[in-house]
Amino acid sequence: MRIAVVGLGYVGLVTSGCLTRWGHEVVGIEADPKRLEMLSGAQLPFYEPGLDELVREGRENGRLRFCGPLDAAEHLSAADVVIIAVGTHDGSGGWQTTTMTTCIGEVLPHVRQNAALVIRSTLPPDFIRDLPQLLEEIEPNGAERCPVLLNPEFTAEGTAVRDFVEPQRIVVGIVRDPSRDGERLLEKLYASAGAPILTMPAIDAALSKLGANLFLATKISFANELAALCDAFGADVTEVLRSMAFDPRIGSSFLRPGIGFGGSCLPNQVTMTVRSAEMIGHAMPLLNAVERVNVGQRSHFVELLATALGERVTGRRVALLGLTFKPGTDDLRDAPALAIARELLAQGATVVAYDPMPTARYAAAVLVPGLVVAESVIEAVRSADVIGLATEWPEFAALEWSHIRGLVAQPVIVDGRNLLDPVILHAAGFRYSAFGRRPVEEAPSELGPAIALALPVEEIPVPDALRAAAPPSVVDEVIW
Ligand code: UGA
Repeated sequence: MRIAVVGLGYVGLVTSGCLTRWGHEVVGIEADPKRLEMLSGAQLPFYEPGLDELVREGRENGRLRFCGPLDAAEHLSAADVVIIAVGTHDGSGGWQTTTMTTCIGEVLPHVRQNAALVIRSTLPPDFIRDLPQLLEEIEPNGAERCPVLLNPEFTAEGTAVRDFVEPQRIVVGIVRDPSRDGERLLEKLYASAGAPILTMPAIDAALSKLGANLFLATKISFANELAALCDAFGADVTEVLRSMAFDPRIGSSFLRPGIGFGGSCLPNQVTMTVRSAEMIGHAMPLLNAVERVNVGQRSHFVELLATALGERVTGRRVALLGLTFKPGTDDLRDAPALAIARELLAQGATVVAYDPMPTARYAAAVLVPGLVVAESVIEAVRSADVIGLATEWPEFAALEWSHIRGLVAQPVIVDGRNLLDPVILHAAGFRYSAFGRRPVEEAPSELGPAIALALPVEEIPVPDALRAAAPPSVVDEVIW
């Protein structure tokens, strides 16, 4: 099929690359000249495991092309499916739907009647509710025109390519599709996916996307509250969660305590949902608490660092391991590590940070004035009074901690992701603290080493080959 994808951020570029892998012909349309220039020079504007290979392959076999808005018209009217994947949040906790409104207005008139317009970006429920009205304003009496559908994405950064090509479900929301031709086009588009296609009204599709993220956020805040309860009673949350996970109704995923969820999706979508609901007089006490607990984890981490140092971080040297909001990405949007670094600096600490992604290091140095960025773990931890682990990169778990012990000023570590094995750290001579974990001295020895449970870190792609070559991210822009 011939596809046009409008907006080449995370969602649009992953969609474009994966569709070409399935044999479709894709033209990616990007309004940002800087990003377009990078893509035309075979450089990706952000890191995503496996994506560079897809883009390279698509460009070599000619199935993937890029263009700017001035050349878009012919590609839009040639396409069987036009996908819109432009950004929809304002970068500070609010929805931003102006770009989407403008984009639909510019794109829709070019879409053939026997093609389909598909919106893939995440949008607020009120926008979806009012969408038929917007379509009517753009094309009065447009009922005879092309079908319009939603097709929310469920891809997570770091595993987006796999999530796209092996989806658990494909959700199709009907905005306007009286003859069901649009639905059939999407069935054809996803023929290679081998996943159930769930068709439903557009508002249900929008809320099924939001609902999934809100539930994941709720699980994480629940795990964090449980960890606090464990701390209060001297229990170990790892053991508690291990036992709970045997109940298939509970499971183990997204229950890893720590400094909380970051990124461009979970925090914004929780905040934005609470806000939108309050605007129509609908209170959301649970989601309010999810947000409060999450933000509180960051200050709790700073308190743990202060306690580990004996009350204050002022004048002390903190080594911060990890900057990105999670492993497998160079994305710093709403990364808890940055908020933590700012707070530590405000309290008068010296903060030396290291992240395996060079692009994240360069960007963090710009985004957090006063932050010292080291080029290796060794450099970051040298002479540190305390180490704070902020991102669960698997290579931090694999460090030779007895060697690190010889470099630090004080052998103290606060594990903000419950990633490390406390027994190993204890054996290496470190004083270890984390979220809801019992100090090793008190741990009954027959229990053996505690293990990080919720996240199978070994499955996180570690971008060795790409690290050195990664281009600087355009982090001051919203990339979607
Ligand atoms: C999230 C969803 O997981 C995807 O399914 C969704 O498609 C995507 O948003 C989106 O809406 O586009 P993402 O933002 O890439 O994906 O990140 P997650 O993997 O959800 O992680 C979010 C944050 O939660 C990270 O900071 C991570 O460290 C944290 N986390 C995750 C925990 O603190 N504990 C956990 O147990 C799991």
